[in-house]
Amino acid sequence: MIDPSLKVSDDNNEEKFLNNPIVTVGPVTKQYLKAVKSYITDGNRFVFSDGASKVQVSVISDEIIRVRMAPQGTFLADFSYALQPYDHVITEVKFIENDLQYLISTPKVTCAITKADFLISFIDRDGFLMSSDAKPMHYEENVQFGGYYIYCSKTCQTTEDFYALGDKATEFNLRGKRMVLWNTDTYAFAKNQDPLYRSIPFYLSLNKGYCYGIFHDNTFKTHYDFAVESMDCTSFWSDGGELNYYYIHGPQMVDVVRRYSMLTGTHQMPPMWALGFHQCRWSYYPDKKVKQVANTFREKKIPCDAIYLDIDYMNGYRCFTWNERYFPDPKNLLSELNDIGFKTVVIIDPGIKVDENYWVFKEGKANNYFCRRCDDYFMEGNVWPGRCQFPDFTNPKVREWWGGLFQGLLDAGVDGVWNDMNEPAVFGSGSFPDDVRHNFDHHRGSHRKAHNVYGMQMVRATYEGLQKLQKNKRPFTITRAGYSGVQRYSSVWTGDNVATWEHLKLANVMCQRLSISGISFCGTDIGGFTGEPDGELFTRWIQLGVFTPLMRAHSAGDTREREPWSFGEPFESICRKFIELRYKLLPYLYSAFWQHYKYHLPVLRPVVMLEPNEHINHFREDEFSFGDSILVCPVLQPGVANRKVYLPKGTWYDYWTNHKYKGGKEFVISTPLDSMPIFVKGGASIPEYPVMQHVNEFELESVTLKTWFSEMEEKSIIYEDHGENFAYKLDIYLEKTITVRGTNGSFVMEQTMHGMYTPRYEKYEHIVYGLPFKVKKVIVDGKEIKKYSFDTTNVLSFTTTKQFKKIEILA
Ligand code: GLC
Repeated sequence: MIDPSLKVSDDNNEEKFLNNPIVTVGPVTKQYLKAVKSYITDGNRFVFSDGASKVQVSVISDEIIRVRMAPQGTFLADFSYALQPYDHVITEVKFIENDLQYLISTPKVTCAITKADFLISFIDRDGFLMSSDAKPMHYEENVQFGGYYIYCSKTCQTTEDFYALGDKATEFNLRGKRMVLWNTDTYAFAKNQDPLYRSIPFYLSLNKGYCYGIFHDNTFKTHYDFAVESMDCTSFWSDGGELNYYYIHGPQMVDVVRRYSMLTGTHQMPPMWALGFHQCRWSYYPDKKVKQVANTFREKKIPCDAIYLDIDYMNGYRCFTWNERYFPDPKNLLSELNDIGFKTVVIIDPGIKVDENYWVFKEGKANNYFCRRCDDYFMEGNVWPGRCQFPDFTNPKVREWWGGLFQGLLDAGVDGVWNDMNEPAVFGSGSFPDDVRHNFDHHRGSHRKAHNVYGMQMVRATYEGLQKLQKNKRPFTITRAGYSGVQRYSSVWTGDNVATWEHLKLANVMCQRLSISGISFCGTDIGGFTGEPDGELFTRWIQLGVFTPLMRAHSAGDTREREPWSFGEPFESICRKFIELRYKLLPYLYSAFWQHYKYHLPVLRPVVMLEPNEHINHFREDEFSFGDSILVCPVLQPGVANRKVYLPKGTWYDYWTNHKYKGGKEFVISTPLDSMPIFVKGGASIPEYPVMQHVNEFELESVTLKTWFSEMEEKSIIYEDHGENFAYKLDIYLEKTITVRGTNGSFVMEQTMHGMYTPRYEKYEHIVYGLPFKVKKVIVDGKEIKKYSFDTTNVLSFTTTKQFKKIEILA
């Protein structure tokens, strides 16, 4: 059976760029894989052939198995923009052939390939069938462009539901939906409009508590059908490229997401200020207006860390220039802003104005950095500056050049860069035509192949450039378009949404979806980009925004002014209260980012991820966990005095009142405008900062550590580092674990520390909630302390050093 002529090879030879069918040109119809005729094995890779097509199955880790199909037997060059190097663990791989199947097994999962019809399935170690092909993989020649349309169909159970896929503006559960991945500028997008700005070809299947993921690493336009065409079948197909997917085993949903992040990377640790409140507007100009907005934040004592300059700061929308009339002295302006604690983020679009007197255009032209059509004409199209050409960000040389262009902006004092319009957007036609050619990191391709990665490669060029120029300072970038892996280079926002209650609901769903699609650092235009919110909608959006990892208010140029004070009272005070809450929770959010960076955990975790076994949770989409311990249930309707909240099993405390709840059911919680249902998990230790008007406004003397009683042992992670540099990559950070457990007469808190960073503050101000007994003794590291106090609700307060090891609170 073993065919020695079947070679496994990844050489980037020329042959791989050719259309494959050279010898046996078949009819131009759909071809399904036929019976397996032969195979070869090569370490952890296995190649099976039906005589014409080949399928490669490789074990990436104990839980990840990759499947590729070569319709005519030649695999395409193995290149990916999505993947990052990672030390995946492979314990053992076994290969068994029986009469009916080939079985490739790791200690966690078995991939079975049927001999008679080439069907591929994945089975867990207890024999549970996680996923199986509904039909053999198939393909159809693309006569116009060459290559193949490639298809894969998996059986779908009646109890199976689907999640993730990036930023879709639809229900959280994707079962019963058809979706397309093709980055698209969708101004004022509507619910269910598709495709949108990003392409994340990763979905999760959840069936009876068992979860797996499929990451189809293919940049061409890709389609998904989640049990629409047929109730018992889920399919994905792409308009070109290779059928090339990674089966990612769970069975826990959170582990599938973690493993997807191991494949495609995480965000870097953001600079601490980037987790503060950001105020954006199309556009703040001239300089006086920018200063006035910034000063008003300080006068009104509403915390804010970043102010944005949209396209009008530029000279005729030429990137990397300043409008001298509106901004005669940018350096001075930015330094004045910096003096009052504001970072400045500027927009940079990909379209470079065709203008022989403009240095960026001249450099790009001289070096042949702009994209060209198939017949060698330049790709020209209209965007904000008028006629533009567009750098080919898939060319490493172009990325290098682009990264260097930021020097001038940095010299002026710019702190962050916002990449927009990078789907790429072109007025009129929408985007580039298919025939535009791209370097694709020397793998060449048309826009069909490069479209979905264009924006990601732009923000990569931006991030890498900033990193190089800023040396040890963490860059801050925000992008609109992206492909899997974009998180390594940027935060994202969900694009041009609308000031409606429906969009507030979408904002909630889209951020959760992005978070479980590998993109934790996400947010929406608070208030809605287009249209006019009233005070209530804006306030509710600010409240949700506290719990989106990126918290940025933004609005279109044709709308009324939109700052947290624009709606007067009581809205202004409530917005202040919630933005202050964001600032109190900064050390907690920062720790959640660390857990994302280090342990691959998403920052936002939907209820279905917390409790995947409960089928009803498959359809819950309002509540989510913000980090490990805070459950958030935003108010998404106008004029409601209360709302139903589902609390997962376990003990929860109302953040505002400390009322204790036993979870596992729904509760009706009152929702006056100045509040929003937030719950803390029993046993959580949450660090809080005093309210500051911006990060590092003053030196901390202490950190408040709020801890909620639990009988179960619970752990919380608190992370601290320098906040702005890359020392954490050299292990200069502090990761603390607080472990608590209680009885009806005692509560013990223990702290362990790991790392080499020493925070400047000395003390913890402890607050302990929910103690079920009257405290008689507080012992810190073996010594009884006398100074502690209670309030009327038995909330205990005391102070310790930041290094405490063990606290015993006794009845
Ligand atoms: C796009 C962006 C929006 C920005 C505007 C002007 O519509 O999505 O955020 O304000 O362009 O630059």
